[in-house]
Amino acid sequence: MTIPNILGDTLTSHFDLIREIEIGLLDKSPSISPKFLYDPLGSHLFTAITLLPEYYPTKSEKEIFLQYKNEIIRTIGVGGTLIDLGAGNCQKAESFFNSLKPSSYLAIDFSIEYLKEAVTKLSGKYPHINVQCMGMDFSKKILIPESISENKRVFFYPGSSIGNFLTSEALHLLRQIKDQAKGGGLLFGVDLMKEESILKLAYDDPLKITAAFNLNILNSVNSLLGSDFNIFQFDHKVIINHNENRVELFIETLEQVTISWPGNSRVLKKGELIHTENSHKYTLKGISELLKDAGFLKTQIWTDSKDYFAVIYAQ
Ligand code: TRP
Repeated sequence: MTIPNILGDTLTSHFDLIREIEIGLLDKSPSISPKFLYDPLGSHLFTAITLLPEYYPTKSEKEIFLQYKNEIIRTIGVGGTLIDLGAGNCQKAESFFNSLKPSSYLAIDFSIEYLKEAVTKLSGKYPHINVQCMGMDFSKKILIPESISENKRVFFYPGSSIGNFLTSEALHLLRQIKDQAKGGGLLFGVDLMKEESILKLAYDDPLKITAAFNLNILNSVNSLLGSDFNIFQFDHKVIINHNENRVELFIETLEQVTISWPGNSRVLKKGELIHTENSHKYTLKGISELLKDAGFLKTQIWTDSKDYFAVIYAQ
């Protein structure tokens, strides 16, 4: 069996993660970072979300990849190093292996444990590709090791995750990618602004899978922090913020509660909201301007038949 190369882990320590959760919970406007949504149960619930008829981003992106695959490959060109940001189970990247023919593949994710399994399978299946993986919280800083060839680095950031950053943070992330892509570029997905009713259903589905996914962050926090959130006392809440062009996700407190954890506590009043995620929706003009500001000189855009979603290659 081929064992993939596991590069240094730049993950935050357990202590820092706990500190981050505490700071968020004690804030005047409480929040929990969306990265805590993806514990093992949360990761499975998110996979279930992607199968919901109401959650269009996954389907729209798939449609684009299917319809424009050849054109996308021609634009990027074959070879080079494929760098997968938020690789997860590596499936989306793998679907490009035979056509894009990368000589190396670097899978990066917040959770290295899950990743190790996926890349071990991949390196056995594609012995001619140099498969490596790295644990990195790239929402803070992207640092590609010097050992990764500078000859054509193609960053891969599918899904709509770029929208989960504030515009200023997205700009910072894009600049770092541009600086480290060398002769390559960035292939990524972006969700486009659309009617409120479609957004509402996508983030508050009738089966309540999204509610379960969002509320499960409290389980995840309970096990990391040792807190005593009781899910029955909370509900999932979606607000469409038209001024900021984004869907805002919250957890609403249904009755006054005191949350305790080792060394601290917090009272939450009835109706108080804990912020968990922002999902910004861009216009094609807005995302093009952002890419230009980040230093990308050339962009190619593909959209689905309903113009719900865009896939972009920026160089
Ligand atoms: N990044 C995804 C998105 O913005 C994640 C997501 C989907 C999400 N539904 C959610 C995050 C509900 C929090 C709550 O589309």
